[in-house]
Amino acid sequence: MTAIIAFISFLWFDDVSNSIWELIVINEWLTRSISISTLLLRTAVDMQASIGAAMIAALMMESSHGIPLSEVAVIAPMKSGAASPWALCKSVLFPLIGFRSVMRASVISSQYFVLLFVLLTTTSLLQFSSTALLSDLHLGPLPDLEVSRSALNGFKYTCLGQQPASADCATFEKLSYNVIPRGSIWSTNPPFYPVFAEYSEPPQQSPAGSSDTGVLLRSMLPLTDSRSRQTLRNYTGKAIVLDSRVYCQAPTVSNLSWSEGYYSNGTGTISANPTISKVMTNNWADEANFMCYYGGADQYSICQIGCPSPKYLPTLLSQFSNETVGEDLTRYGAVFLVLRTTDLTQWKAPHSPEIPITNASSLFVHDEWIDLISPSVYESILSMSVCYAPWDAARLDVSIYGAINRSEPTIRWEPSNQENAAGSFNTTEIASQLGLDSTNQSLEARGIMTLEKSTSFIPTKDDVVPFLQRPFFQGDMSGKGGGVNGATVPLDANWTTLFSGIPLINVLNNFTYTPSNILAADPSISSLFTGALSRNASVAHALSGLITVLSLSAYYGQQHAFDYASEVNETYFKEVLLPQSSGGFTAMTSVLVGHYVLIAVLTVLYIKQTHYSLLGSAWASISQTIGRDVYELLESSSLKTDAEVVESIRDYGKTVLRARLMAVEDEGGARIVCTGADASG
Ligand SMILES: *[C@@H]1O[C@H](CO)[C@@H](O)[C@H](O)[C@H]1NC(C)=O
Ligand SMILES: *[C@@H]1O[C@H](CO)[C@@H](O)[C@H](O)[C@H]1NC(C)=O
Ligand SMILES: *[C@@H]1O[C@H](CO)[C@@H](O)[C@H](O)[C@H]1NC(C)=O
Ligand SMILES: *[C@@H]1O[C@H](CO)[C@@H](O)[C@H](O)[C@H]1NC(C)=O
Ligand SMILES: *[C@@H]1O[C@H](CO)[C@@H](O)[C@H](O)[C@H]1NC(C)=O
Ligand SMILES: *[C@@H]1O[C@H](CO)[C@@H](O)[C@H](O)[C@H]1NC(C)=O
Ligand SMILES: *[C@@H]1O[C@H](CO)[C@@H](O)[C@H](O)[C@H]1NC(C)=O
Ligand SMILES: *[C@@H]1O[C@H](CO)[C@@H](O)[C@H](O)[C@H]1NC(C)=O
Ligand SMILES: *[C@@H]1O[C@H](CO)[C@@H](O)[C@H](O)[C@H]1NC(C)=O
Ligand SMILES: *[C@@H]1O[C@H](CO)[C@@H](O)[C@H](O)[C@H]1NC(C)=O
Ligand SMILES: *[C@@H]1O[C@H](CO)[C@@H](O)[C@H](O)[C@H]1NC(C)=O
Ligand SMILES: *[C@@H]1O[C@H](CO)[C@@H](O)[C@H](O)[C@H]1NC(C)=O
Repeated sequence: MTAIIAFISFLWFDDVSNSIWELIVINEWLTRSISISTLLLRTAVDMQASIGAAMIAALMMESSHGIPLSEVAVIAPMKSGAASPWALCKSVLFPLIGFRSVMRASVISSQYFVLLFVLLTTTSLLQFSSTALLSDLHLGPLPDLEVSRSALNGFKYTCLGQQPASADCATFEKLSYNVIPRGSIWSTNPPFYPVFAEYSEPPQQSPAGSSDTGVLLRSMLPLTDSRSRQTLRNYTGKAIVLDSRVYCQAPTVSNLSWSEGYYSNGTGTISANPTISKVMTNNWADEANFMCYYGGADQYSICQIGCPSPKYLPTLLSQFSNETVGEDLTRYGAVFLVLRTTDLTQWKAPHSPEIPITNASSLFVHDEWIDLISPSVYESILSMSVCYAPWDAARLDVSIYGAINRSEPTIRWEPSNQENAAGSFNTTEIASQLGLDSTNQSLEARGIMTLEKSTSFIPTKDDVVPFLQRPFFQGDMSGKGGGVNGATVPLDANWTTLFSGIPLINVLNNFTYTPSNILAADPSISSLFTGALSRNASVAHALSGLITVLSLSAYYGQQHAFDYASEVNETYFKEVLLPQSSGGFTAMTSVLVGHYVLIAVLTVLYIKQTHYSLLGSAWASISQTIGRDVYELLESSSLKTDAEVVESIRDYGKTVLRARLMAVEDEGGARIVCTGADASG
């Protein structure tokens, strides 16, 4: 019995760390274990109850108070207890049926009545032990057993004309892979906002006037359905990891030319940042000319900056790069100029020196932005910030985990209102997933998974995606590089995406001329980016979130074409019945403790107060019963029903006669004798 209780406690109080417990619960053996162990428990309790009842019977018969004479035939045999098979069999029903007659007796000694009542109560309550235990079980997630499968994760890269395919694909044009030819992802609508895994390091001390996300690696999960992504516990194996770090600062510009007002373009020259890590190739440029468009008041636009081929503007090196000084460039990062127009009335002059750039026009630097004040009328402000992003990807051996199941965010369209005439998306949930709100939430609270830090993020040659090329999800606004041969040049320069949330055709109407190389971001992308900035996220974080969403879109958009298979191990959460409270368990154990105490008390009383009763002595019990007083009754009763016998006893005494077991000298031994009428009967 102790073993059963120990087992039940084990089921209740052990946790996932124990593999036996896990096996029982995961294989849905918990309810079966509970019913089997409570069945054993009830059997044991019933046996104890029958012994306890026998003790009470003996105690009552030997007490000075005695029992009603009419019940002798029922109670006397009981005191021999459960020792015989008959008694054992009967005693299962004993407390319920046998003792009704005792209760019916008009008076029994109240102390035994209490004992009997408690015994009845504990025994009946313990019949419900399995119900009590099962009421503690509720559905909850638990990690299932680990499964292996072959997952498709990116493309196989082939060097055309060379066997075997190797990274010695010296001529870039020879590289080929199975990518779906698609246009620019900048103007697309992300189909969903999937769960990803993140590893981050806080930024190192960055100079004033800059904002940096720090190391920010995000791994895509090769799972097509959202349910799997939401219930994934562990993932080990290859996965594509995105470097979504962004570093922004106030640009150093010269030769600026722009017109006040909205919907126009600005041109100028931007100097390369000497502190940005760069690999020394002969192709680096010290500066680049740009031509970027901007939209209406309080609207953002993002502009790709580059140099005429074959020069590159230096940008951040990705975590997947082991390149050192002296090597050729094998990775293609991105440089963006983020522009924003503001109404002058909305503008607060920063506490920074005013830098005159022309006779009438001046420039202010604040944080990672520069503000240009319109040359003539002082009507609108153009703010600019330059951002460097590696936007690189690699296929790495990763270990991903998440301690709880999670749900993927959704975005909701809010119709137009006073603040936003065109309507906008409510991106609260997605901003939280990307860590773009001001609250510093844990990865779990954000509904994403943890990417474990590995000793090295440097991929082997075959796992660079793709080798010597721009990663297939580094989205070029121009749409170049979407084909089977990829792209071996950085992002095309002088392309602008407007984040106004308005279709391109409507935006174009606001320009006095027809701009070229311009896109309008999908309202969802646009709401995400501007929403993040309005939540006080830094421009680096907002752009990093944007890069993540665009890359995820590209990744899941290309998933149908993936042909690189590798073995991965996964663990999912499974919904199983778990003990999630201990109310039922506590109730059952308290009743059980009460039951034990009662049996102990009965045993002590039995040993102390009975002299002629012995559990299991059925013959002794019978011979004690057939004393002179009872024998007289029996003589005339052989053809009568019980009711008639009881009736005749009543008639005889007019009151309830009582009987008790006591030593009788002349008959030699203990006999049941009548002790007279009960006054209250
Ligand atoms: C899942 O991840 C957790 C947390 O890192 C780890 O403790 C556990 O061992 C992992 N389980 C498997 C099956 O890899
Ligand atoms: C998956 O698990 C099996 C067995 O535990 C192990 O041999 C194999 O290396 C694992 N694969 C990965 C990719 O971790
Ligand atoms: C910038 O303007 C100066 C003269 O104001 C000119 O000498 C220089 O070539 C210009 N730079 C570029 C990149 O156009
Ligand atoms: C971008 O536009 C500027 C100004 O029109 C021009 O000088 C520059 O060459 C362009 N960049 C590229 C790579 O075409
Ligand atoms: C600035 O103004 C002075 C005289 O007012 C004029 O000579 C000069 O050309 C102007 N410079 C520019 C860049 O407009
Ligand atoms: C985890 O699963 C439980 C049970 O289905 C569900 O109630 C809960 O909402 C889930 N949590 C998340 C974050 O999806
Ligand atoms: C956006 O959605 C969140 C919940 O997803 C809600 O709490 C919030 O009020 C909504 N914001 C607006 C402006 O409707
Ligand atoms: C965010 O929280 C983490 C721990 O949860 C802490 O290490 C980090 O310093 C916090 N960052 C900020 C900016 O509060
Ligand atoms: C960088 O990694 C590549 C691929 O693993 C390797 O071929 C190359 O030698 C490494 N370069 C350095 C400098 O370690
Ligand atoms: C842009 O065009 C729309 C009509 O397409 C107009 O309602 C809006 O006022 C214009 N904005 C500006 C700043 O001219
Ligand atoms: C830039 O804007 C000016 C007007 O401010 C316009 O004349 C010129 O054509 C625009 N350039 C391009 C390439 O759209
Ligand atoms: C953003 O910052 C400004 C000023 O620092 C503050 O007034 C505003 O409430 C902040 N907005 C949010 C969403 O935190």
